[in-house]
Amino acid sequence: MALPSTVLVTGGCGFIGSAFLRRLVPEHPEIAWVNLDALTYAGHQGNLATIASAPNYRFVHADLRDAKATSEAILVHRPDWVFHFAAESHVDRSILGPGDFIQTNIVGTYNLLEACRAVWGDPEDRLFHHVGTDEVFGSLGETGLFSETTPYDPHSPYSASKAASDHLVRAYFHTYGLPVKVTNCSNNYGPYQFPEKLIPLMILSAMEGKPLPVYGQGTNVRDWLFVDDHVEAIWSVATRGRLGQTYNVGGDCERQNLDVVKTICAEVALATGKSFLEIQKQIAFVPDRPGHDHRYAIDASKIRTELGWRPKETFESGLRKTVAWYLANPEWVDSVRSGRYRDWIEANYGERAGR
Ligand code: NAD
Ligand code: TYD
Repeated sequence: MALPSTVLVTGGCGFIGSAFLRRLVPEHPEIAWVNLDALTYAGHQGNLATIASAPNYRFVHADLRDAKATSEAILVHRPDWVFHFAAESHVDRSILGPGDFIQTNIVGTYNLLEACRAVWGDPEDRLFHHVGTDEVFGSLGETGLFSETTPYDPHSPYSASKAASDHLVRAYFHTYGLPVKVTNCSNNYGPYQFPEKLIPLMILSAMEGKPLPVYGQGTNVRDWLFVDDHVEAIWSVATRGRLGQTYNVGGDCERQNLDVVKTICAEVALATGKSFLEIQKQIAFVPDRPGHDHRYAIDASKIRTELGWRPKETFESGLRKTVAWYLANPEWVDSVRSGRYRDWIEANYGERAGR
């Protein structure tokens, strides 16, 4: 596919969208990059400090739940390609309050699809790349892998809302010929991840002497991928993948949660000179998440064989980089933890596990 003149990214102030922009804005100065973000608790312009003043970068403060604002942004900027990262992304929040997940992930995706459909009369050289999750496939037992043809079976309000958005995106391909591609990726980790997700929460709590809240027995399994490897996968699919296709993305890196937490304890001990045994004592088993999916694991053979994509980081190298980044960036941590996030944690968790 020919490279676009203008690209609009939604959710570029979040964890994965910002990693995408930090890499691609300097790598492609010939492309005009527009970042549309509502700046929810999870969106921080500070994540883009390294590119904020680049001449080929523009920020648009808009909310996808607002159909008019969404279509205005698409009309004004006329992107050739759209990368749709924006979402409410945390399962625990979706359990406590599904409403925002329905509005942003389903209605917001619909608004964006409609806005693109309205301006893309000729879909030649256009692309709507939808960033999906493997959680739409539900939960695996001890064996088996999610492939692109695994039936959808989402269990949480988050995964159900993401499943709906995937279906809508594919429906626009089949019904209206909108040029779409979908990637469904496993759990990401890395710098700039909001410290409500397992890995950054555990790194910071381990450093700060707080409890490390492990749900249930810690035997649930996730398939971890370093965020920059996800960015590379999305760009590979966008530039070389087939229209109308879905590609699963995963690191072939299954770990039980308790093993992840213990590895984090060891890395934090190594990085800070504190005692591993003392940090490990902070592990606190807490009541399980309702409807907690047991195991996710991705069969990434399609993207590997068709596009030659492979992760560059191992879990060990990626985790070491991530721990080092959180240690080196206390100002970022302070700024994202203040304000609305603090209020929300106190309202919903109280003193539970000392977050
Ligand atoms: P995130 O929560 O860190 O960031 C989400 C971003 O979207 C924020 O900048 C937020 O301000 C913005 N946003 C939220 N609602 C919006 C709205 N209504 N209008 C405009 N902007 C809005 O999320 P993330 O972890 O970077 O995930 C990005 C995408 O990748 C999501 O679609 C998510 O489902 C998907 N995904 C995430 C993972 C993971 O492990 N984090 C794995 C697979 C797929
Ligand atoms: P999370 O990072 O929320 O990602 P997801 O639920 O989308 O997979 O959680 C990863 C795993 O870690 C999941 O099995 C739930 C578990 N977990 C804990 O045990 N304790 C925690 O404090 C959190 C946030 C998650």
